[in-house]
Amino acid sequence: MKILAIESSCDETAAAVVEDGRKILSNIVASQIEEHKKFGGVVPELASRRHCENILDVVKRSLADAECSLDDIDAFAVTYAPGLIGALLVGTSFAKGLAMATGKPLVPVHHIAGHIAANYLTDEALEPPYLCLVASGGHSHIIEVLGYTKYHVIGRTRDDAAGEAFDKAARVLGFPYPGGVHIDKAAQTGNPDTYTLPHPKISGCEFDFSFSGLKTAVINIAHNAEQKGVEINKNDLAAAFQKTVSEILVSRTISAAEQFGYKTVALAGGVSANSSVRNLLEKECKKKGFRLYMPALYLCGDNAAMIGCQAYYDYLAGRRADESLNAVATLSLDEIST
Ligand code: KG4
Ligand code: ZN
Repeated sequence: MKILAIESSCDETAAAVVEDGRKILSNIVASQIEEHKKFGGVVPELASRRHCENILDVVKRSLADAECSLDDIDAFAVTYAPGLIGALLVGTSFAKGLAMATGKPLVPVHHIAGHIAANYLTDEALEPPYLCLVASGGHSHIIEVLGYTKYHVIGRTRDDAAGEAFDKAARVLGFPYPGGVHIDKAAQTGNPDTYTLPHPKISGCEFDFSFSGLKTAVINIAHNAEQKGVEINKNDLAAAFQKTVSEILVSRTISAAEQFGYKTVALAGGVSANSSVRNLLEKECKKKGFRLYMPALYLCGDNAAMIGCQAYYDYLAGRRADESLNAVATLSLDEIST
């Protein structure tokens, strides 16, 4: 079964053709990063306009790369939640048009479910149940993946998402948007022990995250140094920040796996490209004897292949949308769990 999937929840216009959930026939991503960079972050209105301009070409290229025509496609899929509402609307409207014009089924896909599914595309062996740490620009979750369409969120961020914290800290250090990858690079040559950063504790839920205090700590170090006329060592501060975020994400995930009895752990979302998060999670999972799955680097960020993969399992579970499908800016995975 061939699914043509569309993803437009943030600043990437993407389309892909995926066969039987696990085989990528094409995967086109048109990034708008260069434009949003000028503003230090994603400008929602600009993102929507660029999606409108790019989507037809991106979809055509995804069909051409897969050596398919619309006749060869069995179903369409689209990210409908969560994300920037104007951006999501471009993808959902386009996908509805395709489904209505061809009379073929339309599958609505949750963006975070898509990120998790990137692991199925990377490793044939992975099957639920397992525990997944999702860390992206908009979300930080620890999720029990009970089935291909069944989830239970056991931890979430109380304020900033991990990727958002990376981007804000990067901005303070003078790196361009999106800063996560620049912090990762700078940290390679930095000493993480030069600066001491807090490990915020959350009362109430031991699996929740809080990153805003950490971001403030980085801002304070930079401002204090500026006031004293001392130069901060950017690489050292980047390394300290990255190490602290990695420790917070990984320690919570490992204790959640132990407490909930999981021996299989997965990682997902844009921050899963981070070398320190990957290395630390690998090390800790090895210590505990857990099996670890991580998405291939090219599938960590937003793409439509992961949406096409998840759509296959949503299709098998009977999930369908019609012309009344609307985009939804905020929607927890718990709410769509079957
Ligand atoms: O999942 P994603 O592509 O978009 C959302 O769904 O939000 O995640 C984007 C986030 C950005 O905050 C970006 O800085 C971060 O992922 N990111 C990284 C790295 N690569 C991307 N953060 C840390 N280290 C990286 N190597
Ligand atoms: Zn994403």
